[in-house]
Amino acid sequence: MFFPEYRPRRLRRNETLRSLVRETELSLNHLIYPLFVVEGHGIKEEVPSMPGVFRFSVDLLKEEIKEIIDLGLPAVILFGIPAQKDEIGSEAYAKKGVVQRAISAIKKIAPELLVITDVCLCEYTSHGHCGIIKGSEVDNDLTLEQLARVAVSHAKAGADMVAPSDMMDGRVARIREALDEAGFSHIPIMSYAVKYCSSFYGPFRDAAESAPQFGDRRSYQMDPANVREALREATLDVEEGADILMVKPAMPYLDVITRLREEFNHPIAAYQVSGEYAMIKAAGKLGWLDEERAMMESLISIRRAGADIILTYFAKEIAKKLAK
Ligand code: PBG
Ligand code: ZN
Repeated sequence: MFFPEYRPRRLRRNETLRSLVRETELSLNHLIYPLFVVEGHGIKEEVPSMPGVFRFSVDLLKEEIKEIIDLGLPAVILFGIPAQKDEIGSEAYAKKGVVQRAISAIKKIAPELLVITDVCLCEYTSHGHCGIIKGSEVDNDLTLEQLARVAVSHAKAGADMVAPSDMMDGRVARIREALDEAGFSHIPIMSYAVKYCSSFYGPFRDAAESAPQFGDRRSYQMDPANVREALREATLDVEEGADILMVKPAMPYLDVITRLREEFNHPIAAYQVSGEYAMIKAAGKLGWLDEERAMMESLISIRRAGADIILTYFAKEIAKKLAK
């Protein structure tokens, strides 16, 4: 049946009808809120390119965590900015490192809040790369040993899940083995399985002070032109034992999210990254976009593409909006 017998507008006449036929929902249950924790005391500083996002020292986390809990958000992912960086990123697995202390602080305040940790070296290395440098390259296999140490140290501090974002080959298997050996076979791995070498990480690198001091990340992060390679990366991570597969960034890669959704039966996460957030915030500030509507639309699009879970800097704002 076609027009004039069939009229699609019949089901759009009012909000009750529209909600009745709505295919995708956004709920707080799927959201993960990223948190930056910085070494020091009494620090709560806004990230200039990410309005509304702050870096906290561990002593000031309490209020923020309480707010997150009160808003009903289920999970956070932690990024640490240490006082000292070195060639091998050793602060990343220090027993009293900034993330390790943040985990135990959060668990004391809110034991039910899911604490996920980003496992990488770039915030902790003096050169800003995600691995150990040998000669002029990032050495894959040496890096795996460091990543395994980082993951185990997070689990020991009380993390509920680890999320490796380095893009080294074989890291999921190595981290799984290390966690299992250390008695953490119950801790899931959310792998940044498909992480593109993206300009949209710009604001994050300011927030985390993790921009590479020489070269770029193209020898380990993926080429934005590729989608079949994304399926190969995801296949490897599944075989290595990943529990959740992540695509990152989200909005420029919705097709990749859909492909993974179709080809895999694992939960799929998507990271709406710092640059995606900054774009919407900036256009909103200038009055060029309706910020709240752009935020909601961007998130529903990511869900529609097939993501189960979304990591987003908008999580608190969405919680406030959904509570209205
Ligand atoms: C660290 C890491 C990055 C992001 C998450 N983990 C930065 C990068 O790879 O350069 C990006 C998050 C964002 O932009 O919001 N490897
Ligand atoms: Zn990194």
